[in-house]
Amino acid sequence: MIVDVKTMLEEAREGKYAVGAFNTINLETTRAIIESAVELSSPVIVQLTEKTFDYAGGRAIFHLIKNISEFYANDIPIGIHLDHGKSFEVVMRAMDMGFASVMYDGSRKEYADNVATTKKIVDIAHAKGVSVQAELGNVPYLGEVQMENINWDNYMTDPDQAVDFIERTGIDTLAVAIGNAHGFFRERSQPDYERLSTIVKRVTLPIVMHGASDWQNDRVKEVIARGVSCFNVDTALRLAFIGGLREALQAEEETDLRKILTKAKEHTKDAVKEKMLMFGSDHKA
Ligand code: G3H
Ligand code: 13P
Ligand code: ZN
Repeated sequence: MIVDVKTMLEEAREGKYAVGAFNTINLETTRAIIESAVELSSPVIVQLTEKTFDYAGGRAIFHLIKNISEFYANDIPIGIHLDHGKSFEVVMRAMDMGFASVMYDGSRKEYADNVATTKKIVDIAHAKGVSVQAELGNVPYLGEVQMENINWDNYMTDPDQAVDFIERTGIDTLAVAIGNAHGFFRERSQPDYERLSTIVKRVTLPIVMHGASDWQNDRVKEVIARGVSCFNVDTALRLAFIGGLREALQAEEETDLRKILTKAKEHTKDAVKEKMLMFGSDHKA
């Protein structure tokens, strides 16, 4: 059953667990995510980016997720979310397709510009019952920066700015930067847990953690205890999918693509379930 993402994350915060927001690009990954949610009785967010609109066809994949959710998982709370919408236009496109949860990521824009565009989007979105996530500070990407030389102070979410941003824009959920980074590589040696706690004390919205799919149990538990209610996971699923494909392709005589892709799906499912158990979202549906 498709549900409101903000409410789902508020329930997670109350219950001291986090929901996984998993990126999909295709049928197999989508099924891996939703089948895992059904088998573990877990709420889940299925999300996709503009690049995936281009790859799979935005409407095609949106309706694929919606149909699988409604036909095969109607008793499981599922959110469908636009991840990292980088422009006003792509966010409008997503809402037009039927997304009820979107991210506008103006984190690399000038602050005043980010506030103005986010506010414009929130006004339109709220009139349609759509919730909006924003990111403050910024969560760097693999390849975007030399991690050895990174000055983390330039990437962190400023708690005062977060309060100001929320007041001015009316966003529903906030993605924070506390030393987390997209992709698997050396992140800040220790996340800035104190900064997270300061943000959580001053901000009543659900807090989302991007780029933490390589975080192990201790870090995950620590930030959930401090108030994080959602983790975005992409790289861990891609690596699992590729691992499954590699294994399937070793049987050189196999020409049934469904068998090959099923192996990739099964590996992806293992990765999704591992995350759901780590986030504590199992049996919370
Ligand atoms: O954080 C972004 C995700 O890893 C998706 O990346 O824009 O290549 O789909 P993408
Ligand atoms: P990873 O690629 O590190 O899993 O991060 C995913 C993410 O933040 C998607 O928005
Ligand atoms: Zn992200």
